[in-house]
Amino acid sequence: MQNKPIRRHKSLQPISHEHHYSLQLCWKIRIGLKKNVDLKRIEKYALWFYINHLLPHFNIEEEFVFPLLGQDNDLILKAKADHKQIKEMFDSDPINQLEQIAELLEKHIRFEERILFNEIQLNLNTEQLFKNETLHSKPEFKDNTSDAFWL
Ligand SMILES: [Fe+2]
Ligand SMILES: [Fe+2]
Repeated sequence: MQNKPIRRHKSLQPISHEHHYSLQLCWKIRIGLKKNVDLKRIEKYALWFYINHLLPHFNIEEEFVFPLLGQDNDLILKAKADHKQIKEMFDSDPINQLEQIAELLEKHIRFEERILFNEIQLNLNTEQLFKNETLHSKPEFKDNTSDAFWL
């Protein structure tokens, strides 16, 4: 098993690209905490990102990416357990778990990029990877800068 990112297959690039924005969320949370920004402001932005980007991202992964390796694969089970844990944190009292959310989300993304997506690419042929049209294109990310506390 490789633990360094390998060149992403085209069909996984859009979903992989979204990881970049999720990592930015982690960074923004940490900057906000470091600058002692009112937690409510950080929470508001984090929830906006969660509803508009993270949840749809999780859903696409669960519907189109994870089945590529099979639902009882150990790596898939771990990825799904991560999703569940992150969702639970957002759904209950996120304002008091911002640091933990950033940490868990970053770990999860590193796991997908360094282990899970590599494993998918190593186990599937190009035809199988291209099977899902949904993965081929995604709209551009539009950030919410109405309260850019991280700047
Ligand atoms: Fe994920
Ligand atoms: Fe992901």
